[in-house]
Amino acid sequence: MNSILRSAVCIGLLAGLIGGCGRNSTGEGAASAAEAVTGDPVRGEQLYQQCAACHQLQANAAGPMHCRLFGRKAGSVPDFEYSEAMRASGLVWSVQTLDEFLTSPFTYVAGTKMGFAGFSDAADRADVIAYLHRANDDPATCPAS
Ligand code: HEC
Repeated sequence: MNSILRSAVCIGLLAGLIGGCGRNSTGEGAASAAEAVTGDPVRGEQLYQQCAACHQLQANAAGPMHCRLFGRKAGSVPDFEYSEAMRASGLVWSVQTLDEFLTSPFTYVAGTKMGFAGFSDAADRADVIAYLHRANDDPATCPAS
């Protein structure tokens, strides 16, 4: 809706002056993606204990490793045996796709073998995503390679 409105505004204004419309949209998108990490990583670390039954940051376990998650194509960690559903999902992990996945894993990636029902509470999702983001940004928890 917002982007439709923004496009309409861009088209409605003087095209010559608004050569930057496309760039502005891209810039805003990048900024809002960065700003979208609104959760509490400390509380998220507690919630991550539920993920830790199957996931580790630096290594594959019952689930794939969570380091280098952001910007990663779903189903792409080497040596992890994903479901066909996850490999073929076409998803790229971001704050937004993680939020959507964790809302309802079984319906968002129908056929996933992740045996976890997700978090119905948006604050729980935001917090665990904030924790994952912080862990990924910190070389102590997620070394470069
Ligand atoms: C019962 C075990 C289990 C639990 C608990 C679990 N997961 Fe998973 N997770 C998996 C498995 C197995 C997969 C691989 C799914 C597939 O291939 O369909 C997976 C996949 C994922 C993926 C996709 C990663 C990739 O490389 O594409 C993400 C993201 C993820 N889990 C996040 C979480 C988070 C966050 C939590 C906690 C809120 C969690 N998982 C809890 C087992 C689990």
